[in-house]
Amino acid sequence: MAKIFVTRSILSDGIKMLEEAGHEVVVSEKKGDLTKSELIKELQKTNYDAVITLLTNKIDEEVLNASNTVKIFANYAVGYDNIDTEKAKEKNIFISNTPNVLTESVAEHAVAMIMALASRLKEADIFTTKGKYKGWDPKLFLGVELCGKTIGILGAGRIGTRVAEILINAFGMKCIYYDKFKNEKLDSMGSVQYQSPNDLISESDVISIHMPLSDATHHFFNLNRLSKTKHGAILVNTSRGPLIKESDLIKLLEEERLSGVGLDVFENEPEFNKKLKKFERVLLTPHIASASVEARGNMSILCAENILAVLSGKTPKNQIV
Ligand code: GLV
Ligand code: GLV
Repeated sequence: MAKIFVTRSILSDGIKMLEEAGHEVVVSEKKGDLTKSELIKELQKTNYDAVITLLTNKIDEEVLNASNTVKIFANYAVGYDNIDTEKAKEKNIFISNTPNVLTESVAEHAVAMIMALASRLKEADIFTTKGKYKGWDPKLFLGVELCGKTIGILGAGRIGTRVAEILINAFGMKCIYYDKFKNEKLDSMGSVQYQSPNDLISESDVISIHMPLSDATHHFFNLNRLSKTKHGAILVNTSRGPLIKESDLIKLLEEERLSGVGLDVFENEPEFNKKLKKFERVLLTPHIASASVEARGNMSILCAENILAVLSGKTPKNQIV
């Protein structure tokens, strides 16, 4: 029997699997996230074999050194910028993530934001609920149609590809994408072009960001790149907050350059630049793009499967290192 620690309560599907396989699972009872020192203390107190971590747990050298028994940190997320993977590799500790199962949920959230911004739903809702609707007006809340417009996908992994596919099929959007790698699936679809990031930014009516966070992509959207956007463009970020320099984004919003911005992620989560609140054309959600019951349940199952593989001497199927 192995001992597995879960740093915060998650959907129970995977936990049941681990228990049914005869293992003991300890779920942190704290309401919020454990601090780093609380996590280290827990790892020092008990000889755990595996840990399920969240994207809000920073798994750095100190945490990796806190235990001699943990064989795998299974991250309950597709992104793993919270983990020092180099150090984990040096210490022969497995790291896994949860790809694929949240692709649909995140893609649908990005598309929901794009549709809401194109139709100006947030502004119109605030207007209506504030009692400002005094009669039909031919020019009230003019939005834009997505049909025939250009979607720019920055980062054409699974999620970016799915967003492109939905928008092309549902609305007949033209698509341009940038990724380090060419994407065969997108290349095989009509009306899709590969572009440099700067050309993509200046030619897109809607930009959806799906890049992982790394030193190279930190503040990718700074004032220089943001200033290349089309007047009236829509920008949506459902990947990682620090890809956008929020203070520069605010400058652009103040210039009324962007007609809509959707952010599910922020530069210093859970904090965000409070100036964002003053723009009714900015739609903010609290990092919930993967929060469908389906995705969050399946993420829990993937974490369990990765842990069970390592406990039986195999490599996890979603191995990062
Ligand atoms: C969510 O942001 C994830 O990386 O899974
Ligand atoms: C994440 O799963 C991605 O590849 O986009």
